[in-house]
Amino acid sequence: MSLKGRDIMHARDFSKDECDYILDLTDYFHSQYKRKELNKIAVDKIIALLFFEPSTRTSFAFEAAIQHLGGGSIGESGVEATSYKKGESFTDGIRMVDKFCDLIVMRHPEQGAPQRAAEVADVPVINCGDGNSQHPTQPLLELYAIKKLRGDVSGLNVVLMGDLKHMRVDHSIVYTLAMYGNHVIYVSPPELTMPEEITNEVKTRYHAKISAMDPPEALEIADVVYITPIAKRRFEDPKEYEKFASLGTYNINMKTLQKAKKDLLVLAPLPRYEEVSTELDSTSYQGYFKMYEYAVPSKMAILSTVLGLDTP
Ligand code: CP
Repeated sequence: MSLKGRDIMHARDFSKDECDYILDLTDYFHSQYKRKELNKIAVDKIIALLFFEPSTRTSFAFEAAIQHLGGGSIGESGVEATSYKKGESFTDGIRMVDKFCDLIVMRHPEQGAPQRAAEVADVPVINCGDGNSQHPTQPLLELYAIKKLRGDVSGLNVVLMGDLKHMRVDHSIVYTLAMYGNHVIYVSPPELTMPEEITNEVKTRYHAKISAMDPPEALEIADVVYITPIAKRRFEDPKEYEKFASLGTYNINMKTLQKAKKDLLVLAPLPRYEEVSTELDSTSYQGYFKMYEYAVPSKMAILSTVLGLDTP
């Protein structure tokens, strides 16, 4: 199997077989990575990192993955240092970058910007976040983390908690979790629940079980909690943000987890705001830092298959 030359725009772009394949590749690269025995299979490849929005985990993990594969990168100093700052149009800039690389990895504040890039680029484009819409490589990391830390990736009660209306990671992971036959439980203020069109599509596409619950009920039956913050930057009206931020109901701490299963796994995309108490950091629930041990191998798996590199 190979995803050679494929644009990756949306979580629904991956079939279950393709996700299984990427999980296997992640395993392969993770064991190499741990042994520090890396094959430099991308020595003739250049990857452009075009991050029009800040990033630590995604951009650095891709950059590290490129280096481990022996490839080169351009653009890692940020688009602030490019002719975009002089007013070059988005698509003209992409037409140029396309000539200098084998793959474009992009984050952009506007929904659909990576798709617009893909329409003018000959090389494949990977969307690493476009506005509030999608972040389709992130759930591949969470899926692998669930597999490693819980042993299975299906048949689980997985709680999506926080601002499900605005967070692109939730808009992405809901597809992946449903595709693997998990029961997805929404826990959010009613005004910040998952957009209806996403829920409808996920239900139709994967015949998924999706419920909405209040925090105490959901946290009691959860096998995995995936928690996202109610983040100020996602709201157009700061007053609306204040209304939800002051609730505190959608944050977790040791008290809210009093009745949780002993083997509950708590994941979060980070960066952290108020949503997860630091009390959890040294408990067995904590998976939100642990999962980033797999971020570089996960990105190596994605890069290698999209670039058509020689892998098992
Ligand atoms: N999880 C995530 O996308 O983090 P960054 O914004 O730091 O890339």
